Amino acid sequence: MFDVNKIRKDFKILERKIWDNKPLVYLDNAATTQKPNVVINSLVSYYENYNANIHRGVHKLAEEATTLYEDVRQKIKDFIDANSTAEIIFTRNTTESINLLAYCLDDSIIKDGDEILLTEMEHHSNIVPWYLLRDRRNITIKFTPITDNHELDYNTLEKLITKKTKIVSITHKSNVLGTVNDIQRIAKITKANNSILIVDAAQSAPHMKISFQDLGCDFLAFSSHKMCGPTGVGILVGKKELLEKMPPFLGGGEMIRKVTFDGFTTNDLPWKYEAGTPNIADVIAFGTAIDYIEKIGLENIYQHELKLTEYAFKKLKQFDFLHIYGPKEITKRAGIITFSNPVVHPHDIATIIDQDGVAIRAGHHCAQPLMKKLSVSATARASFYFYNTPEEVDIFINALNKAFDYFAVGACKELKQGVKSKK
Ligand code: ALA
Repeated sequence: MFDVNKIRKDFKILERKIWDNKPLVYLDNAATTQKPNVVINSLVSYYENYNANIHRGVHKLAEEATTLYEDVRQKIKDFIDANSTAEIIFTRNTTESINLLAYCLDDSIIKDGDEILLTEMEHHSNIVPWYLLRDRRNITIKFTPITDNHELDYNTLEKLITKKTKIVSITHKSNVLGTVNDIQRIAKITKANNSILIVDAAQSAPHMKISFQDLGCDFLAFSSHKMCGPTGVGILVGKKELLEKMPPFLGGGEMIRKVTFDGFTTNDLPWKYEAGTPNIADVIAFGTAIDYIEKIGLENIYQHELKLTEYAFKKLKQFDFLHIYGPKEITKRAGIITFSNPVVHPHDIATIIDQDGVAIRAGHHCAQPLMKKLSVSATARASFYFYNTPEEVDIFINALNKAFDYFAVGACKELKQGVKSKK
């Protein structure tokens, strides 16, 4: 049974007090999630008992470390429902996974005159790597617009795809709007057009059950640190035939089969894309995080976040001066609530509510083009995970109330002073 109070005991950091003894209310989970004690213990246990380089040594310790590391690849294959472990590449983060693709697809797939289709709701990590590619090739980058309800405009997307569209790269769930995009619907279109479909699942994989095979995309990227695992581990899942066709990313040890004075041949998948000593300890601890999340259950996680979002929405209605972004229907955007108002800067809101121990993110959220589309320079964002509670939503709302009172008083003072100086 899902028991949030029991779950919270698994996270030492959730006992933390902020400022003058305020309980930490951590609502910045879209940026990174907290780590349960088992994940932290897993890191310590690796260094205390197994630390060795992998794939190289024949000694017992190296063999054990290699097995622990490769077992995680199998775990991820099952978690994301990939076809085989050959399709699971370890990177540093989602950003690196997408950069790998922009670099390697360039040499093997992209020609001058080709087009790449993104969307207006992308994170910089799914825009800038393609701009870098555009610096090397004469290609065109297009953006699928969003509707007034902050969903993807699927009809326009269909029209924007042409015979020249080699790649469609799209977020599964927007880190700002919370919008969940219909990847299966897009996959049907890209398949019919022979375009490669890349999915940024950084904000979805931690929160809902995903099957790589059912989604129908060609590549999918996500990060350990957004799902209770350590920082420094990203995943790229890719169709085997494409991974085989693409050239390697980085050169060095591990990614080769043979090196001579003349050249080299590449290793088998997935190691062809994993040059150098990898992030062994953090990958192993990520495996522990996956076990932990699976024990809680992704459906439980999804439902819990949905309820929290619904509850927070109801409470936020009292602030009728707030703009809340993202689809109006909760089921289209669970877990993320982004808001702003024209008078109080989001950074001021975040700073004031931090005094009550409430951690949210304020800024452009690494999505400046989307901010432009929304006609703001920044927004405030609360994002939930399965260890958050309705009581924390209450603390967040009370803190917001105080912040708006504070600024209302400030604004009145300024107004009065303005009146006096004119007299
Ligand atoms: N992509 C992360 C966020 O949205 C860092 O906060």
